[in-house]
Amino acid sequence: MKIGFIGAGKVGTTLGKCICDYYDKHKSSDGEKISVSGYYSRSIESTSESVHFTKTKIFDNLKTIVCASDILFITTEDSEIPRVWSCIAELEISNKIICHFSGSLSSDVFSKNDIKTGSFISTCSFHPVFAFSDKFSIYKQFNNVTFAAEGDKNACKTVGSIFSAMGHNIISISTENKVRYHAACVFASNFLVSLLHTSEEMLESCGFGQSEALDLIKGLALKNANTYFKSGAAHSLTGPLERADVQTIKKHLDVLSKTEYDEYMALSKGLLGIAREKNPERDYNSVEAILYEDIIILEKGKV
Ligand SMILES: NC(=O)c1ccc[n+]([C@@H]2O[C@H](COP(=O)([O-])OP(=O)(O)OC[C@H]3O[C@@H](n4cnc5c(N)ncnc54)[C@H](OP(=O)(O)O)[C@@H]3O)[C@@H](O)[C@H]2O)c1
Repeated sequence: MKIGFIGAGKVGTTLGKCICDYYDKHKSSDGEKISVSGYYSRSIESTSESVHFTKTKIFDNLKTIVCASDILFITTEDSEIPRVWSCIAELEISNKIICHFSGSLSSDVFSKNDIKTGSFISTCSFHPVFAFSDKFSIYKQFNNVTFAAEGDKNACKTVGSIFSAMGHNIISISTENKVRYHAACVFASNFLVSLLHTSEEMLESCGFGQSEALDLIKGLALKNANTYFKSGAAHSLTGPLERADVQTIKKHLDVLSKTEYDEYMALSKGLLGIAREKNPERDYNSVEAILYEDIIILEKGKV
């Protein structure tokens, strides 16, 4: 079974390299030979680099790579996937499997209404939960990665077995929940960066040097993350909100910039639910009054 890559960037090159390395020495679970047919990309420079790196073949147009491949991995930027699809949908693609790796798009982007009548294709999306920071070295760390998969059963089974044989973990996500799933990943990765950065900057504004600030937040963040993964949200929750300590919360709000204030309020609303679940006997009404003050004032204004 031959896999053709459309898009010779970080993801396409890393996946291609890992697939070549593994399937040079192994067969698929059902004994089939898996190989990479080659790359087609927007620029010849990117295509040549990836082809040289993976020792595969250059394709200089979509028609030839589609013809030479049983499976097409579309590894362009998200915004280009619909454009690439509209071009390949016009070609002879019957019986091919088509897959992209975007977190936020689903396989619905490959609309079956666009293909020639009578053609049968199977489509899916496989989102690798991994940060591909570069094109030529990150493949060394691409081990035991989780892919969130959705789409047609046949495509998911075939693509899933290619990656699971390589030691990766495949989880299913419904097409309807794909965007929500991706937003959840943003909370756990990107927003965590924002929170740590806010804390670092605030500590520096208190006079700590950068390494002192980083040591301090590293201790707090890692301990909390470990407790969270070991014992869950309720167990890891501590602090003024959990204690319903309104005076301290008010003092915090007084010393925050506008952006810090907004973040503090939004995140505290999330914590309030956890705190109530953890301590059902504790009265959190006065905390709630502070957090939803704006809404209460607005509502009073309306009356
Ligand atoms: N980066 C990550 O950490 C990460 C993680 C999970 C999932 N993903 C997903 O993986 C996909 C690829 O991301 P990436 O980070 O690899 O992007 P990237 O490094 O920017 O690579 C995209 C590649 O697509 C090529 N391309 C763009 N438009 C094209 C077109 N119309 N026809 C053919 N080739 C085209 C570009 O070509 P040229 O170089 O030739 O101009 C570039 O090499 C995206 O769907 C992304 O959401 C990325």
